[in-house]
Parts: sequence; C-alpha cells; structure tokens
Amino acid sequence: MTSKKQLEWKPLFLIFTVLSCCSSLEVSIPVSEYEVARGGEIALTCSFIPARPNFDTMILTWEAFPDNTVDPMIVVASYFLNKPVDIAPAYEGRASLKNDMTKHVSTLHLTKVTMEDNRRYQCSVAIPNDKQGTQAATTSLLVLVAPSAPICKLQGTAEYWHNITLTCVSQEGSPQPVYEWKSYSVENSPRQFPPKTTEKDGSLSLFNISVETSGYFICTSTNRVGSASCNFTLAVMPNSMNIASTGIIIGAVVAGVLVIGIIIFCCCRKSSKKNKFAEGSPGDVEFYDKDAPETGEQYWDDKSNSETKPHNQDEDKDVVPQSNYAVTSAGHTFDDDQHSSISGKEKYNGKGSDIDSQRYQDDQYRGSRDRLDDQLDRNEQRERYGGSRDRLDDQRQRYGGSRDRLDEQRNRYGGSRDRLDDQRERYGGSRDRLDDQRERYGGSRDRLDDQRERYGGSRDRLDDQRER
Ligand SMILES: *[C@@H]1O[C@H](CO)[C@@H](O)[C@H](O)[C@H]1NC(C)=O
Ligand SMILES: *[C@@H]1O[C@H](CO)[C@@H](O)[C@H](O)[C@H]1NC(C)=O
Ligand SMILES: *[C@@H]1O[C@H](CO)[C@@H](O)[C@H](O)[C@H]1NC(C)=O
Repeated sequence: MTSKKQLEWKPLFLIFTVLSCCSSLEVSIPVSEYEVARGGEIALTCSFIPARPNFDTMILTWEAFPDNTVDPMIVVASYFLNKPVDIAPAYEGRASLKNDMTKHVSTLHLTKVTMEDNRRYQCSVAIPNDKQGTQAATTSLLVLVAPSAPICKLQGTAEYWHNITLTCVSQEGSPQPVYEWKSYSVENSPRQFPPKTTEKDGSLSLFNISVETSGYFICTSTNRVGSASCNFTLAVMPNSMNIASTGIIIGAVVAGVLVIGIIIFCCCRKSSKKNKFAEGSPGDVEFYDKDAPETGEQYWDDKSNSETKPHNQDEDKDVVPQSNYAVTSAGHTFDDDQHSSISGKEKYNGKGSDIDSQRYQDDQYRGSRDRLDDQLDRNEQRERYGGSRDRLDDQRQRYGGSRDRLDEQRNRYGGSRDRLDDQRERYGGSRDRLDDQRERYGGSRDRLDDQRERYGGSRDRLDDQRER
C-alpha cells in the first residue's frame, strides 16, 4: 500500500520540481522613484525575465495605487501579447505604453503630469504556466511642485502673558515643504526667539508673550523645487481686561455726557419757565394795576363765555346807581382778596363769579338803611382784618383789579353804570381800544390814590352818613 502511494506521488513531485526550477518569472523596475515637474513628462520602465523565452501568450499591466489602500488598483494601461495596447480611459491622450518583447521591456509614458499622478505604480506580468518568481514590481512617481505662498495665522490672543501659536501652511508643495520661522524686532533686526519657544511643522509656539514679543515673524516654506514665505506682524496688546475697562470708561463718559445734557435741558426748561413767570408777573401786575376796573371787567367779558357777559351787564345796570356801591364793593373786594390771598393766583380766576354773587348780595341790600349799616360793619371788618390801609393797598397791588378801584373809577368817570356800559359797547371790548381808554382815563395810580383818599380814606364822612 505504502509503495503504491509513493509511486503515485513520485510523478507529481517530479512535475512540481521541474516547474519550479524552470519557470521563474522576474519583473523589476530599476528606478525606485521617478521625479517629474508638474506638467512635465516621464517614462516609467519595467523589465521582466520570463522563465521560458518562448511563450505565446502574456499580459502586461500598469496600475496605479489608489489614494485609499482599501480601494482597488487603478488600471493605467495593459498589453496582451500581439494585441494593441489598451489605455485606460482616465489616461487616454496622455499615457502611452511601449513594449519591447525581445528586450522584455515595457515603458509607460506619462505626459502633462499632474499632482494626481503623484503616487506609486506597479508593473505586473502574467504568463501562463509561469507563476514562479516575481510577477510584479512597483515604483513611485514624485510630481514636483514648488510651495505656494504660506498662510501665517495666529492661534490665541496676542495679549500680555498669553501663550500663542503662529501657524504656517503652504496649500501646495511637493514634496512636502518644510517650514522655518524667523523673528525680527519691531526695528526689523533679526533676533532670537523668546525662551520656551517651540517650533514644529510650521507651528511656532510662543510662551508668556509680552510687549517685547511684538515684531515680525517670517515663515519660509521650502522644498526642493522652491520656497515661499509669509510675514506676520505680531502686536502684543495689553490685557482685554484693560480694553474692557476702557470700554467701561468710554461708556461712563458717554453716560455722564448724557446725564449732563439732561440736567442742562432740565435747567433750561426751568429757567425758561422762571423767565416766563418773571415776565408774566409784572405784566399781570401792570395789567391789573393800570387796567383798573374796566379792564378787569372787560377782561372777563372778553374771556369768559356769553353766560357771564349779559349777567354782568344786567347787574351792572341795576347796581351802578347806588352811590355807596364803591364802598360796598371795596368791602367785598377785601373779603374776596382775603380769600384770594390764601388760595393764590389761580383762585383769582374764580373771582368773577364771586363778584357776581357780591353784586347779588348788593341788590338785596339795596335801598335799605340796614344795608348801609352792614356796609359799615363790613368796613369795620375791613379795619379789623385789613388793619392798615397800606396792607390793603398792598393786597390790591398784588391782586390788581380790585373792585375798590373799579367802582371808584366808575363813580368818578360818570358814576353811572349805564355810561360805562355805553362806553364798553362803544369800545367794543377790544383790547386796543381798552388800552386807549386806559390811557385816556389815565388809570394812574396817583389819581386812584387820590380817589381812595377822597372816598375810602375819610372814615369820618362815612360815620357822618351813618349818623344821618
Ligand atoms: C501658558 O502655558 C503655561 C504652561 O504651558 C501655562 O501654565 C499657562 O497657564 C499658559 N498661559 C495661558 C495664558 O494660557
Ligand atoms: C510671564 O511673564 C511675566 C513678566 O513678563 C511674569 O511676571 C509672569 O510670572 C510670567 N508668567 C508665567 C506663567 O511664566
Ligand atoms: C515684513 O513686513 C514688514 C512690514 O510690512 C516689513 O517692514 C519687513 O521688512 C517685512 N519683512 C520681510 C522679511 O519681508
């Protein structure tokens, strides 16, 4: 059994040894790395030594290694013996393959080389029954590209006592450019890097920078083909805290200006109000002082609505004939003034109605002896409250248009209300004409005072009357 098996195995062994000894294919690429400038052309040569010189079929293939090792190989060109060369569509037009079957050499020509061609290539030969030896060889193609101008960037904050990194990268460059940093002072003189500075792959790390670190930092990107550089100006600033505080200061200044502006605005408004008041006050005084009664009346007539006007006129007509009216009115006015003095200027506006009511009162008292007594009482009251003539005068001056003066004047200039009313009608209530009137009748304090002395001033006469 055993010998039988051995017999069976013998021929197989013989065949195996014969094949291994006689069919040893050797594929090789003499140059391990080709270099070509981008856009140039290059010829990659692959030689092979078949185990048996006479073969009637073979396949020769040029392939490119993929970027990603997981991906399949990229076929560039392939050659079947005694068949036309097959160029892969991707290389059509710029790749060609020449095969010398006597010298057993295959040459791949690449033109218009790009960075895409910057990779490893493999030449493989397949001959039937020639599986021993080396069936493939590889080489690499280096496409040379000068480095592009590097981009210098700052990583970190260029502030006192910060750590920063300056980066320098060329977008292009083959082979991979090397970067070198150099530092220049602000005066543009070369200088050493500050201590603890590290430089790696174009990244320059500066530690605990200060104002002295400021200057020019030049990065040069260099490869076999060329070099390029960037110039970074580093200006180390004070802390952002300071900047923030500066911002706060600016904000405070702005706010201050705003506040001052508001204050000024308020002051202006206040002072203008004051001025208004100051201007208005003398006017009021003047108005009531000079204008005397009619004006006061007229004023009301003019200003108030129709309700007041007829009322006044009617009453006036009725009231005026009373010779004592002035005295009475004076008394009333005083009372009125007393009230007004308490409540002030505003309340004065309500005086018109007060006067009316007083008039009504007067009507009631009219023609009776009692009335006179009352009046006298009132005058006494006046004495009591007013005390002195001066005070009364003061008050009159303050509140102007006192009934007293009104009635006095009325009496003096015609004594009859009718005439006054006529006059009023004649002068149509117009302010201008009133002013005329005012001027005509003088409205002078002196005359008024005279009157006052004549009428109010003499207590004796009143007493006489009372006795009568
Ligand atoms: C700078 O780096 C040092 C050590 O590398 C570290 O102690 C320090 O806190 C860093 N400074 C800043 C501002 O990050
Ligand atoms: C950074 O430098 C300043 C002086 O320039 C020094 O006072 C400070 O201690 C330094 N900081 C570090 C983390 O070395
Ligand atoms: C860098 O730039 C500065 C200002 O732009 C210039 O003064 C300096 O000469 C430049 N340095 C280099 C090496 O180009």
